[in-house]
Amino acid sequence: MAKLSIEMLGSEVLRAKAEEVPGPDPALDALIRDMFETMYDAGGIGLAAPQVGISKRLIVVDVNEPEHRPFALLNPRVVETGDETEKMEEGCLSIPGVSGVVERPSRVVVEGTDPDGKPVRIEAAEMLGRCLLHEIDHLDGVLFIDRLSPLKRNMVLRRYRKQR
Ligand code: NI
Repeated sequence: MAKLSIEMLGSEVLRAKAEEVPGPDPALDALIRDMFETMYDAGGIGLAAPQVGISKRLIVVDVNEPEHRPFALLNPRVVETGDETEKMEEGCLSIPGVSGVVERPSRVVVEGTDPDGKPVRIEAAEMLGRCLLHEIDHLDGVLFIDRLSPLKRNMVLRRYRKQR
């Protein structure tokens, strides 16, 4: 296992649309293990492959709740969202030290495949739903600051630059 270095705001890979993963690939297993290690080391609850410089549609999630086991998901996509939204504080390992309140659908259905290529369908709300939406955003080059109003975004960015 190896800890990977996390790409920070400003890195181009964070803004790229990541490529589909063709299917189960033993080479991905090592990457997935390393992504978990990197995420745990940084104290995160989710990590997307672009955040470690790999522009592939792969995420790992561990929201640290007994009812949800840690999992990796290939090619995750949002297939359904509820009409209701919820505001919650979010941060990102690629923009450390700052956070912002992001409005997102409070319920989401995500489909993808597990690392063995088995189809997975996840119905999620609360922390897990939010984490999935945040990580899937990463695969499309979207960061949580993009979902803030311009005013709030500037405030967060100012705070971020100040502490660096
Ligand atoms: Ni993030």
